[in-house]
Amino acid sequence: MTVAAQVRTPEKIGGLGARVLFDRIEKRYGPVIAVDEVSLDIAPGEFVTLLGPSGSGKTTSLMMLAGFEIPTAGEIYVDDDPIAAVPPYRRNIGMVFQNYALFPHMTVGENIAFPLQMRKIGRSEIARQTRDVLELVGLPGYEGRYPKQLSGGQQQRIAVARALVFNPRVLLMDEPLGALDKQLREHLQLEIKALHDKLGVTIIYVTHDQEEALVMSDRIAVMNNGRIEQCGGPTDLYDEPETRFVATFIGESNFIDGVLARADGAIGYVEAPGLGSLRAPLKPGIAAGSPVALTVRPEKIIAHDNGASSHLNTVDGTVADVVFVGEMRRYVVALPGGQRLVLKAQNRSGVQSFNRGDAIRVGWSVDDCRLV
Ligand SMILES: Nc1ncnc2c1ncn2[C@@H]1O[C@H](COP(=O)(O)OP(=O)(O)OP(=O)(O)O)[C@@H](O)[C@H]1O
Ligand SMILES: [Mg+2]
Repeated sequence: MTVAAQVRTPEKIGGLGARVLFDRIEKRYGPVIAVDEVSLDIAPGEFVTLLGPSGSGKTTSLMMLAGFEIPTAGEIYVDDDPIAAVPPYRRNIGMVFQNYALFPHMTVGENIAFPLQMRKIGRSEIARQTRDVLELVGLPGYEGRYPKQLSGGQQQRIAVARALVFNPRVLLMDEPLGALDKQLREHLQLEIKALHDKLGVTIIYVTHDQEEALVMSDRIAVMNNGRIEQCGGPTDLYDEPETRFVATFIGESNFIDGVLARADGAIGYVEAPGLGSLRAPLKPGIAAGSPVALTVRPEKIIAHDNGASSHLNTVDGTVADVVFVGEMRRYVVALPGGQRLVLKAQNRSGVQSFNRGDAIRVGWSVDDCRLV
């Protein structure tokens, strides 16, 4: 038996996932470019999240895949077949939306049966599939309830059941947990992950919550102004952000603005006002003399008081602010030249603590910073 056969139950609920390919997709509404030359190749069974601020084109991208919007340029393929000519109901794509509420006048059973009736499935088969899918989402026996008799989390589970009951090969989820409180959201994130592992369906998930994206996704496509700025695994995006936008949108980042003074092998030397020369791994495409920002995560910076070290960048500053957060202290350090750094210091013995106004020398490994 293959591994896939052990962990997946495609014959029961959920087909094996399809490959989805966006090929230079564009969507214009008059002068507005909602989606701008988006290309994205999603592997069968992959969990890909579109992450981005409001208005960045996430929903529009899903709507074009579902068939409710028509691209103004480009082509979408599902398993190598162009889908432009396929009507929405024949695309075999399940959907769960934050505002795509259950039909309030129908019971849970009737809600779930709806997509099956549209597909002319027989009565006893509908009853069996409804029972199976309710079991899958952890709500067995809920057929007779009305949506208003369910909690918010239960309603979203039923919405997931309704989206899965016809064995779609692709499941689209647009902020499905946006209306729920934090604890329930975290719980359902894990449930959706578990469902994905079990079914092997391809999931395209939309959120503007970066933590949710990091926890759930195989890959994250960071969207900004209708474009994909960067697409990669959670650790790639966190550790190797290619743009300032990505570094800011995923996790917290510091930026020190300066000029790339010279390159020496794999190391670039950045001259920053008042800070002298700082080193960072060099990136192709940045010429000496160009303005650059050196970016470093707050948890990579240490308070460092024993002189310079060959693999560290060190700068002297003054503690401008300190906040005690329990497991760590968060310092804002004012640097000569007017720039600021945020650093996070763990709260444990051996880690010196500082007060506002203290002089502080901070350092970070050359390997832990990036140029953007
Ligand atoms: N029907 C429409 N007519 C005109 N402009 C539209 C239409 N639908 C979307 N837009 C515009 O396209 C852009 C992308 O919208 P979209 O709904 O895809 O964003 P989003 O990333 O889903 O945002 P949010 O996080 O707020 O849901 C926005 O500027 C929006 O105003
Ligand atoms: Mg949206």
